[in-house]
Amino acid sequence: MIYHTPVLLQTVLDFTNPKPGDLFIDTTVGGGGHTFEILKRGARILGIDRDPEAIEHVTKKCQMSLSTRNSLKASNVKYQIGKDLVLAQGNFSNIGQIARANGFNKVDGILFDLGVSSYQLDDAKRGFSFMRDGPLDMRMDPSLAVRAKDIINNFPERRLDEIFKTYGQEKFSRAIAQAICSARQIREVETTGDLAKIVREVYGKKHIRGKIDPATKTFQALRIVVNSELLNLEEALPQTEELLKEGGRLVIIGFHSLEDGIVKRFFKQAQRLKVLTKKPIGPGEEEIFKNPRSRSARLRAAEKI
Ligand SMILES: C[S@@+](CC[C@H](N)C(=O)[O-])C[C@H]1O[C@@H](n2cnc3c(N)ncnc32)[C@H](O)[C@@H]1O
Repeated sequence: MIYHTPVLLQTVLDFTNPKPGDLFIDTTVGGGGHTFEILKRGARILGIDRDPEAIEHVTKKCQMSLSTRNSLKASNVKYQIGKDLVLAQGNFSNIGQIARANGFNKVDGILFDLGVSSYQLDDAKRGFSFMRDGPLDMRMDPSLAVRAKDIINNFPERRLDEIFKTYGQEKFSRAIAQAICSARQIREVETTGDLAKIVREVYGKKHIRGKIDPATKTFQALRIVVNSELLNLEEALPQTEELLKEGGRLVIIGFHSLEDGIVKRFFKQAQRLKVLTKKPIGPGEEEIFKNPRSRSARLRAAEKI
């Protein structure tokens, strides 16, 4: 099974240019897609993820033989955990502390590939997907106290409306919040399927067939709130300036305008970063064709001066 196809991989490599002896931090290691490509170029890397399943997956993958980019020359490279690749389960909002604790004090590159992995999305029991019925969970880190279900069944209508409007830019936020509150008076909203059905009913005929699923924005908003995604990013970015060596590169891939806005504002006010991307870079047609989930990716990069 493919865990996750790395997005904008060549662009990440072009900006970071990993070389033997370089030190990198991948703050969102996920399936290791970007990490392993950086490792293949001889750099050492600290891979962080708040999801223990991602850390477990990359640990296992590390122990398997890996082929080089040129599949004809399959090599038996094995990356050693702790030596070539250091893995840490944690929140990138603590990137400074995690990096120092693992001896990554000054690094050549830092990557953020935000959001959820395909693995998380496709696993019904994680509760991220409106396509697969599962418990309404959405926690990237299972030790978090609040699941999506707790928010949907307990928050007041006004607060739900605000969440869908602010974090999902959902134009029917009010009607969706009302419909949820009516539904939960009869019985708790338990599953992703229950919630998706409520949202789809609100859209009703307003939904144009073939267009994006009406539940998309509601699910995105909830996921952002359950995982405090924007707050984590706001806390992490200022710590990267100190961690980068002079000439070190920071690359951030975001998937929606709220993330991109935070990155843009940070780049504007950062004193020791030179912005390398006047405009965010998105995937080309070929990448979107091969990996439709890359569709909304936007990459920004900067260099420490
Ligand atoms: C889009 S995936 C990364 C995929 C990876 N670049 C690859 O190619 O396989 C995002 C990952 O970031 C993790 N993540 C999201 N927010 C995080 C945070 N605040 N701290 C640490 N990891 C986070 C998620 O658990 C998920 O595994």
